[in-house]
Parts: sequence; C-alpha cells; structure tokens
Amino acid sequence: MKISRMSSLKDKWILITGASSGFGAAAARAFGAEGARLLLGARRVDRLERVSIGARKAGAGEALFRELDVSKTASVEAFISWARKKIGSRGHLHVLINNAGGAHGLDTVAEGKDADWEAMIQSNVLGVLRMTRAALPLMPHDAGASIINIGSVAGHAAYEGGAAYCAAKAGELQITRALRLELLGTGIRVGTVDPGLAETEFSLVRFKGDAASAKKVYEGTRPLTAEDIAEILVWIASRPPHVNIDELIVKPVDQAAVGKVFRRKL
Ligand SMILES: NC(=O)c1ccc[n+]([C@@H]2O[C@H](COP(=O)([O-])OP(=O)(O)OC[C@H]3O[C@@H](n4cnc5c(N)ncnc54)[C@H](OP(=O)(O)O)[C@@H]3O)[C@@H](O)[C@H]2O)c1
Repeated sequence: MKISRMSSLKDKWILITGASSGFGAAAARAFGAEGARLLLGARRVDRLERVSIGARKAGAGEALFRELDVSKTASVEAFISWARKKIGSRGHLHVLINNAGGAHGLDTVAEGKDADWEAMIQSNVLGVLRMTRAALPLMPHDAGASIINIGSVAGHAAYEGGAAYCAAKAGELQITRALRLELLGTGIRVGTVDPGLAETEFSLVRFKGDAASAKKVYEGTRPLTAEDIAEILVWIASRPPHVNIDELIVKPVDQAAVGKVFRRKL
C-alpha cells in the first residue's frame, strides 16, 4: 500500500500573512521549496524582502511581497486587490494562511492596557475575518484549496496574564469552525494549527522588545521551531483534496500543558 499521497503545490498561489518573521517566514521558505508561488504580507517590508529572497532561493516560482496591516480593512483590501492582479484573471488563490498576530503584554485583567487588548483582538480575530472575507473570491471551489488559520494552545486553555490573548485565540478557533460550516459544499478546506511554546519573535513582541524576559520563556526547555510549524502547514495543504485537517494542536514534548513545561537545570 502506498502511504503518502500528496497534492502538488508546484505553481500554486499561496498567500501568507505575517510573513516577515517566525512561522510565516519559515512557511514562505517551506512552500517555496515545493515550487509554489507566494504572496507575502506584513508591516515590515524590509523583512519581507529578505524572506522573499530566501523563499526564491528555496525554489519558489514567485515570492512577491507587499505591506499589509491586517488590523486595517483598507490595508487588507489594497493587499487583496494587488494579489488579484498578480494572480491574473485565470489564476486562483490555492492556500490562504492567516498567521499574522501575536500577544501584547502579560498583564492581569486588573492591570490590562486598552492598547494591548485592542491590538490582540484586531490582529488575531478581526484580521482573520477581514483577510478571509477579502480573499474568498480569489479561491476556487472543488480544487483542494485551503484556508489555514494559526491559533494557539491559548485558545484551548486560559492562563494568568493571558486573558485577552486566550480570548483572541479562542475567537480564532470559533471563526475557523463557523467558516468550515459556511463553506460546506464548496470544497474549500478550513483548518487551524494551534501551536504551544515555539521560539520565534513572539515573546519579544509580547514583552515589548525586552530580550531578557523573552529569553526566559524558553530557558532550559526545548521549544518548537518555526520550521516545525512550517513543515506541518505544507503537509496540511498537500493532503488529497477530500482530506480536511480540522484542528491540530502541536506542542513540544517538553510542554505537557500550557503552564506545565519541563526545564533542565542550566
Ligand atoms: N511562537 C509561539 O509560541 C506561538 C504559539 C502559538 C501561536 N502563535 C501564533 O503564531 C502566529 C505567528 O507568530 P510567531 O510565533 O511566528 O511570532 P512572530 O515571529 O512575532 O511573527 C508574527 C508575525 O505577524 C505579523 N503581524 C503582527 N501583527 C500584524 C498586523 N497587524 N498586520 C500584519 N502582520 C502582522 C508580524 O509582522 P510585522 O510585525 O512585520 O507586521 C510577524 O510577521 C501568531 O498568530 C501567534 O499568535 C505563536
């Protein structure tokens, strides 16, 4: 029996939000290595340029990039109209990866800041809704197209200081579930990948550039890498068209639960 059946991603258009670092940048290289054509968005265009060069070196047919802020409807719409032109009238968007997002602060509710709460809801929740609404008309029906959202273990379990982020990722999970119901019959696959502890710029952003606090999060433990998640995204998108990976929780072996992490003595 042949176990691995893959749908080819060669020359398929893949749109990745938050492609300037972490999971998104690694996904650009991983889909690039499959010969896909990439549309990359994030706010830091200089970083996107570097990611695009890396993705082309890895084998991407194209690795186009443009400034994108998923927290602003006008930016999302401008990005999608640019994407529509790049894909051309006869092409289709094969995969949408809603990855842009992150955590801001680790304050309790009592100490929480409006700006942090608003940024988290804007990018992780409203950003997914806006991008999906705008991108859906570019997606073909019955051709194994996929929408893959990046959630988190934070959407499944609450932790102190994580109220708004956990709420945002629980929101992402429910958006994914509602969308799968809404798109039934179109053939468009909808899923969420929900990682645990992964070493990217995530903690640097959460602690507002405080590198020492960010480093402490991963001290003595072996977290996931961005490449671990990128490989899984490629695997999901390359399943046969009738297979939908609904929800995938991915944690490092050293993390048994959100707040239960094994740390070696240094
Ligand atoms: N690392 C973890 O432990 C972990 C675990 C579970 C889930 N996640 C989730 O995984 C996703 C990727 O995070 P990461 O770990 O790869 O962290 P990262 O290295 O900080 O990457 C976050 C990406 O999102 C982009 N982004 C943030 N806000 C944006 C906005 N308003 N508009 C457009 N792009 C935006 C950033 O780009 P710009 O700043 O250039 O815009 C960056 O490319 C996030 O949704 C995060 O919540 C991470």
